[in-house]
Amino acid sequence: MIRTEQGQISTVVISTALGPGGRGIFPYTLLPAYRRLLQAVQETGTTVFAKSATRFVRQGNFSAWNPLTWRYIRRLPDMGMLNAYGLTNQGVAACAREIKVAINQGLQVIPNLYPEFAKGMALAIKDTLEALEICQQTLGSPFWALELNFSCPNAAEAIRENVAQALRCCQEVKGKHPKLFLIAKISICHPYEFAQELEKLGVDALHAVNTIPFDLVYPQKRSPLWRVGGGGVSGGPALAQALSYNTGLRPKVSLPIIMGCGVRNREDVQRYLDAGADAVSFCTLALRHPGAAAEIIGAFNG
Ligand SMILES: Cc1cc2nc3c(=O)[nH]c(=O)nc-3n(C[C@H](O)[C@H](O)[C@H](O)COP(=O)(O)O)c2cc1C
Repeated sequence: MIRTEQGQISTVVISTALGPGGRGIFPYTLLPAYRRLLQAVQETGTTVFAKSATRFVRQGNFSAWNPLTWRYIRRLPDMGMLNAYGLTNQGVAACAREIKVAINQGLQVIPNLYPEFAKGMALAIKDTLEALEICQQTLGSPFWALELNFSCPNAAEAIRENVAQALRCCQEVKGKHPKLFLIAKISICHPYEFAQELEKLGVDALHAVNTIPFDLVYPQKRSPLWRVGGGGVSGGPALAQALSYNTGLRPKVSLPIIMGCGVRNREDVQRYLDAGADAVSFCTLALRHPGAAAEIIGAFNG
């Protein structure tokens, strides 16, 4: 658990799997087990990280309403997933309104913004600051923490090369909003020095790591989603590498770390806690086994 002056983050958190509003994603909301998970999240006060929003509407690869795009999200063995969702979203104004509804229902939702560095650094930072203000205006005082996603492997922006832009972006956000609890979501592709620089400039917590690019998990294979950059691997197949990265990261920073990627069961949550996690996240588990996800939440946050 992470306790701060402004608010707290539960021991186990759900990342992305409850959608841009944090209230659930269609068509998963049709599943009774997923709806029970939503109820467990509400009852236990589990922290939910919203799926990434961008300043304006963004058409990525996947769209829930277009079956032709469903191929961009696939199952892998060992409770894994490969996705090239591509950050499709309705823009921050619509996402923030959804989050407001979720918060009014008693859910503890932290917004997540994706700075679009492919537009150029200055514009991406301007958009991010505007998006943040929209969150502030829409959500009011329950808006105490923000996650910035610097680690999506499914977008044109190259994660391996966004370090300087991400640092600049955090610096500007912290400069304008010093009291906001700022969480940087990083990638296995980022060097540990990146995390150390984020700490130096006042970022409050790290979330490590996002999905792992397909070629790192399966170096001998060609991704079935190679046309759209290969996609990101999550769930079981990503655990070993994510855990090893986080174990190496722990002694490099004193910031709280929300560790995750690859959690399939309680034992995996415990592995991350033993590695020094302040909180543990999962996404794929909630989509593939919402019943197991609800049990874990009950065990650690109940
Ligand atoms: C279908 C899908 C969509 C995702 N979309 C986002 C996103 O919009 N923003 C983000 O920060 N992470 C996103 N993620 C990453 C997850 O939040 C999580 O960090 C990652 O999947 C690793 O955790 P897991 O193995 O428990 O799934 C997505 C993951 C999946 C499977």
